Amino acid sequence: MAQAAASGDSGGNRRFVYVVASVAALGGLLFGYDTGVISGALLFIKDDFQLNPFLEGFIVSSLLLGAVIGAGVSGALSDRLGRRTIILVSAIIFAVGAIGAGLAPNVTTLIFFRILLGLGVGSASALVPSYISESAPTDVRGSLSTLFQLAITIGILLAYLVNAAFATVGDWRWPVGLAVIPALILFVGMYFLPDTPRWLVSKGREEEARRVLRRTRSEEEAERELNDIRRVEEEEEEQAGYRELLAPWVRPMLVVGIGLAVFQQFVGINTVIYYAPTIIKSTGLEDVASVLATVGIGVVNVLMTVVAILIIDRVGRKPLLLVGLAGMVISLGILGGAFAFSSLSGIISWVTLIGLMLYIASFAVSFGPLLWVMLPEIFPLNARGSGTGLSALSNWVANFIVAQAFLPLVGLIGRSAVFWILAGICIIAALFVYFMVPETRGRSLEQIEADLRGDREATATT
Ligand code: BGC
Repeated sequence: MAQAAASGDSGGNRRFVYVVASVAALGGLLFGYDTGVISGALLFIKDDFQLNPFLEGFIVSSLLLGAVIGAGVSGALSDRLGRRTIILVSAIIFAVGAIGAGLAPNVTTLIFFRILLGLGVGSASALVPSYISESAPTDVRGSLSTLFQLAITIGILLAYLVNAAFATVGDWRWPVGLAVIPALILFVGMYFLPDTPRWLVSKGREEEARRVLRRTRSEEEAERELNDIRRVEEEEEEQAGYRELLAPWVRPMLVVGIGLAVFQQFVGINTVIYYAPTIIKSTGLEDVASVLATVGIGVVNVLMTVVAILIIDRVGRKPLLLVGLAGMVISLGILGGAFAFSSLSGIISWVTLIGLMLYIASFAVSFGPLLWVMLPEIFPLNARGSGTGLSALSNWVANFIVAQAFLPLVGLIGRSAVFWILAGICIIAALFVYFMVPETRGRSLEQIEADLRGDREATATT
């Protein structure tokens, strides 16, 4: 089946799945843009409003708090009301949040709208991966799901560039408010897209599911996929949402989901994404050079995600994760070393830069996309929204902890020690991946679910 599907002559309009995935991935663009825009904008917000260090930090972290709530609520809601409906609601939240934050007359209003934006970002992280994964044919599911991470990285890069463009006039309102544009496109695009065939079957709406599948698969493929979905659906308990997650056969996957989500943050990615200019400047590079270097990091992040898209369905999820983690251990080791010998200044800024680039490249080709690709894959149909949501929630809590702890920790034990601790966490993450995480490449969502139950003949598409 994979062969026929990959050849593209499998009937239906194969290109439509790319449209579906790309529109939904706009949720990722907003995720990246809204999280990335604040570091640059903050410089000028400080001029407009009187900010103490607490308020400054809270403007950044208020979005993360909103995201924790958004991820927690939206996943379970989407099991009941559909992925598409809740993504539409998030698009409205994104639009209102962008305009509100852009026009905010005072700090309290700004923080209120940053929390609202966070609700959108959290929901997008919990829903878009499931929406894409459930819509995708097996053989390209990895690549299509990686579009979400690609959009996140493009969003971060756009934020860096827009900030740089408006920095000359010292404006933060336009960079913050401009996010309304992708929000509106997401709303209009999603309005015209269907819900996922898998969610439709789970609600007994088989005729609609068949129609959706027939748009991108041949009649025979659509019927086979429908049968598989129906079969796993019949085996599942009636209940959807958080209760399903506690079923004994689902619990180990909850550990895998939450483990992957927490490790994706504890390896330290956002110390680089949020503090890159600070880290680079501390090596002695000039202001302009460090802004350029930050944009360079954004570009490498995007490019290496494209590499992930090209190889993810060929090399397998686990090997890619392990190779990426190895690269991160090496680069964090280099970064720690560079700061330990910072008295040798000249060369050190270059060594730091190379370390940062290698680190970003290793993350972008592995853990960045793979978390969002694998979360929906490892949870069964009825608990996919809540399982992905709870894992995404853990990801945001971990993100919050790292963002808060980084600068104080650097003050306490020094940069080198912090980077070496992060390298140690990458090693533990690699052990977790090696021993606990199942390989999901090349298997349909239904096969993965049947394997989880230990019921190997439950599906036909082998
Ligand atoms: C992570 C974000 C991170 C981004 C960087 C995402 O997968 O969840 O926390 O900022 O990748 O590209």
